[in-house]
Amino acid sequence: MTTLRIRRPDDFHVHLRQGEILAGVLPATALTFGRALVMPNTLPPILTAADAVSYRQAICVEIAKLGADHFHPLMTIKLVSSTTPQTILAARAAGVVAGKLYPEGVTTNSEDGVRDLEALYPVFEQMQACEMVLCLHGESPGVFCMDREQHFALSVLPFLAGCFPKLRIVLEHVTTAAALRTVESLHDKVAATVTPHHLLLTLDDVVGDKLQPHHFCKPIAKTPQDRDALIAAAVSGNPKFFLGTDSAPHPRDQKECASGCAGVFCAPVAMEVLAEVFEQQEALPKLEALTSEFGARFYGLPLNDSYVQLVREPYAVPQYIEVGDTQLAPFRAATVLNWLCQIETS
Ligand code: DOR
Ligand code: ZN
Repeated sequence: MTTLRIRRPDDFHVHLRQGEILAGVLPATALTFGRALVMPNTLPPILTAADAVSYRQAICVEIAKLGADHFHPLMTIKLVSSTTPQTILAARAAGVVAGKLYPEGVTTNSEDGVRDLEALYPVFEQMQACEMVLCLHGESPGVFCMDREQHFALSVLPFLAGCFPKLRIVLEHVTTAAALRTVESLHDKVAATVTPHHLLLTLDDVVGDKLQPHHFCKPIAKTPQDRDALIAAAVSGNPKFFLGTDSAPHPRDQKECASGCAGVFCAPVAMEVLAEVFEQQEALPKLEALTSEFGARFYGLPLNDSYVQLVREPYAVPQYIEVGDTQLAPFRAATVLNWLCQIETS
């Protein structure tokens, strides 16, 4: 049996939601990963130090129930027009690691997103000064959906990187070859997260044959050439690219309907999917750097000191994961994967 032992991974982009869904989805993240950067686009949103502290407490209650003491949530706040430099200072003092910028209307719960970027310059200054990371949902509103990321990556991203040269900036869930090139070309305070599902999917897997709502996410999966460029970046060993699953569960009835929500619930299969991709690329020895080293280094965190085993054995992914009365469809639902991620018990 082939096994691959790697340092426990971190997920630098996850949607854990709230309430019953939080309790139901947390095991998929907390039992495998050492840390996860928790996105703030909840309802209501996480806007302040106080919001982040109470959200962290709610997550920690569930971590305790799971007995997952090794797991540490890394908190974020959402940057909106009312965010001030004082908001940033208070959040940083409360341990908030990053501020997340959603342009207005580009994705789930971003109706309060940013319209006037310039108005936030004092906020970016403060983030730069107090070493808070700026996480970007990199899509330009109003642009054709397949071009939104490229537009953002060629305009806003280099501009912000130039104006705030010491600010650490992450282009989240990168999906295009053009954005990859931009991130590569900018200074080393600019990085990007890579999701497992964007390494597999193209637009054909969303709308090419039958409509596949569980593959619908923002940014939408792009062309085969873009997908191949993402795989090349993931296996490249370039520390600018690291894992952020963007695992984004939505109840079945909000995915399988006439006006479905964007989001792929990939946490239950994240490491297994990555192992498959890296095996196909004959790059398994490089997986650990993507999942367990580059992100931690970029965020200035120590590497995890525990390990997981990826075992080459069949893993039958369920059709749905039941959370109370709600059903959530994991990525690769009802398929059999070739790898299973197991926790090392000492
Ligand atoms: O597909 C997505 N789902 N993209 C996002 O940016 C947000 C996420 C969500 O919260 O559902
Ligand atoms: Zn996300």
